[in-house]
Amino acid sequence: MPTELHPDIERILIDTDPIRARIKELARELEKAYPHRAPTLIAILKGSVIFLGDLMRELKLECEVDFMGLSSYSGNKSTGVVRLLLDLRESIQDKDVLIVEDIVDTGLTLSYLQQNLLTRKPRSLEVVTLLDKPDCRKVRMEPRFAGFRIPNEFVVGYGLDYNERYRNLPYIGVLKPEAVARGGKA
Ligand code: IMP
Repeated sequence: MPTELHPDIERILIDTDPIRARIKELARELEKAYPHRAPTLIAILKGSVIFLGDLMRELKLECEVDFMGLSSYSGNKSTGVVRLLLDLRESIQDKDVLIVEDIVDTGLTLSYLQQNLLTRKPRSLEVVTLLDKPDCRKVRMEPRFAGFRIPNEFVVGYGLDYNERYRNLPYIGVLKPEAVARGGKA
């Protein structure tokens, strides 16, 4: 059945089925990378929660989960200033930590986060991101596991928002210019 398009979406960049299929592949990659280990998945709020839920259900290995809240975006622009909004509940000392991100854009959020987490002495620290926009980097950042490389376009859906809307769309899409101009709100 064709995907029903939200009226503010101009086009779908990645549809639900390819996302699901790629997450299965990522889960197999992670199982190979963490044999006999129970990594701690650290999901970055709020954009990565849907990815985290789908990835965790695919993973056939023991794992723990914790959350961090970071913010660097205002509307559809990166401010370049990363703020820590919510910290971890558990210590990550000597743990195998896997940061779960929705998208890597400038790389500033992740590089701030990696520096912050390394001071807590994890045994290992890696990144899995659903989307990667490599053309937008302002700092060097190579996520070890990445779902899809996408061009330099602002996307919403599958957890990603524009002014807090569209996170619940089951696909990754590009907004119509008029929806962007309205600020995403009706
Ligand atoms: P970075 O610090 O520029 O790499 O941005 C990372 C964060 O910016 C992501 O975790 C998202 O929350 C947000 N972001 C970057 N690009 C997009 C996009 O295309 N759509 C929605 N949010 C985005």
